[in-house]
Amino acid sequence: MIVLGIESSCDETGIAVYDSERGLLAHTLHSQVAVHAEYGGVVPELASRDHIRYLIPLLEKALQQAEIQKSDIEGVAYTAGPGLIGALMSGASVGRSLAWALGIPALEVHHMEGHLLAPMLEENSPKFPFVALLVSGGHTLLAYVKGVGQYELLGQSLDDAAGEAFDKTAKLLGLGYPGGPALAELAETGRTGSYKFPRPMVDRPGLDFSFSGLKTFALNTMQKAAHADGCNGELALQVKADISLAFEEAVVDTLKIKCRRALEQQDCRTLVIAGGVGANKRLRAQLAEMIEQQGGELFYPRIEFCTDNGAMIAQAGCFRLMAGERQPLEIDARARWPMQDLKAI
Ligand code: KG4
Ligand code: ZN
Repeated sequence: MIVLGIESSCDETGIAVYDSERGLLAHTLHSQVAVHAEYGGVVPELASRDHIRYLIPLLEKALQQAEIQKSDIEGVAYTAGPGLIGALMSGASVGRSLAWALGIPALEVHHMEGHLLAPMLEENSPKFPFVALLVSGGHTLLAYVKGVGQYELLGQSLDDAAGEAFDKTAKLLGLGYPGGPALAELAETGRTGSYKFPRPMVDRPGLDFSFSGLKTFALNTMQKAAHADGCNGELALQVKADISLAFEEAVVDTLKIKCRRALEQQDCRTLVIAGGVGANKRLRAQLAEMIEQQGGELFYPRIEFCTDNGAMIAQAGCFRLMAGERQPLEIDARARWPMQDLKAI
């Protein structure tokens, strides 16, 4: 079955073509970084307008790349939530109408399910069951995945998501938007041991996270450093790099401790990382080291499929369309959509 996938939940427009027999045939992406950069974060209305501008040209490019015609598409899958409602509606409207015009089935895809199954786009793909760490801008959670739609929530963030903590701390440091990658890059020049940040909630049992305290800790550290002798209230770039490194180490260490605990609890050896923060090099390296010590296996998507993309939506949609799921004729989208509401296939 050839499925067209559409992603438009936030600040990236992604279109992909996925074939149940041959795998991914094409994927195109447009990032809105330039649109939102001057505002220091995503402006929802601008996001919706930009999706509208790029959806059709990207769709045409994807069909060309896949070397197929519109009439070859057998199903359309689009992100219906969670995300920015206007942004979601842009993709949902194009997706649902296209399916109607072509007389083929349509399907709503849960954005986080797309992320969670994204490692299955790779040749070396994980087998069920596995423990998944999903770390994005809006969510941080650990799940035990027994199959498509069979997600047992093991723990989640009680406040800021890991990506949100990266973005907010980067903003405090004056690194702009998008903050996560900028902070990670600056951390590469940080000096180990200059600052020590706490590892939130690791002394307590359980698998929940809390990252908002780290942002406050970063703010206090910055203020102290700026008023130290000879600093005149300004932070030197090296100090910003040292703080970035200490912050990144704290987030990564905390995620690693909780992943190890989740694997032990579930008596499982397979770990999957997904979501935008999964692009973080330190996180990948630290989890790889931990998994090697445990004799397990670590899977993650290539960097471009960690952050938002159409390929993960086309794939998740294809799995569900193949199982006979269908979306009726209405165009619907949800800003919130608990993952536990998904049906097993
Ligand atoms: O999955 P994603 O593209 O969008 C959501 O569904 O939220 O994740 C975006 C998040 C942002 O918070 C971004 O700062 C973070 O992922 N991110 C990173 C890195 N690359 C993206 N955080 C840390 N290090 C990175 N290299
Ligand atoms: Zn995402």
